[in-house]
Amino acid sequence: MTGHVLDGKAFAAKLRAQVAQHVAALKEAHGITPGLAVVLVGEDPASQVYVRSKGKQTIEVGMTSFEHKLDAETSQAALLDLIDRLNADPEVHGILVQLPLPSHINADLVINRINPAKDVDGFHISNVGLLGTGQKAMVPCTPLGCLMMLRDHLGSLSGLNAVVVGRSNIVGKPMAQLLLGDSCTVTIAHSRTRDLAETCRHADILVAAVGRPEMIPGDWVKPGATVIDVGINRIERDGKTRLVGDVHFESALAAAGAITPVPGGVGPMTIACLLANTLTATCRAHGLPEPEGLTA
Ligand code: GUN
Repeated sequence: MTGHVLDGKAFAAKLRAQVAQHVAALKEAHGITPGLAVVLVGEDPASQVYVRSKGKQTIEVGMTSFEHKLDAETSQAALLDLIDRLNADPEVHGILVQLPLPSHINADLVINRINPAKDVDGFHISNVGLLGTGQKAMVPCTPLGCLMMLRDHLGSLSGLNAVVVGRSNIVGKPMAQLLLGDSCTVTIAHSRTRDLAETCRHADILVAAVGRPEMIPGDWVKPGATVIDVGINRIERDGKTRLVGDVHFESALAAAGAITPVPGGVGPMTIACLLANTLTATCRAHGLPEPEGLTA
């Protein structure tokens, strides 16, 4: 048996097209253009690539992109001051501060300064609490993208055993909350879990978000399971730099019912969900009905 490869690139393109359609309708009917502000502090090369990509895709769906690139020595006070100005700006519906921030800046303080209604990353403590209590929140983009792909492939997730490997605030914990919200039986496992292999073998849905290249082999995958690989790891193999996930793709593909590849799986969904969140935030800010299927 060979599993089905879930095409995140195609799914993300479809989602962006849907967002673009809603943006056009918002402009036409209400004269509103959603605006997303992205703040980058310093010159981290990976962050620069992400920010460029976010800006490009924001414009492609018809939104306004506000980019704020600050040098690495920017003070925490100056960054907080910028957040205050973005919070007060009616043209800005979503704010994203690219992480990681330089070590002299307290990232929690900065994130919690963002107006929760504009927190399109879903990292503000209010949104974390709303999600954890099953209330309407802004939902972190990567787990939201995973949930959309799971629902699209499986339909109802109710009653399924879901194992999330990884306990980060950005992916593992919110992913577990979302799966619980869809009535899965959820286990959060991590590098210290006693028998990780056996835990994974019980998963109808296996989400890998640990950041360790190819850590999960195919014989940890329950036959027919749906495997979502969130890992993006750069490794050297055969003298070349390659991107691999947290799952050993070839062996897992043989066991799984369906699996996301790396690259081309979850990755493209993250920015598409950021745009979906920005649209959702815009509708909420203006008291307009939210488009269906774009949030949890
Ligand atoms: N750095 C890596 N991933 C993310 C993300 O999802 N949001 C932000 N703000 N920074 C990141």
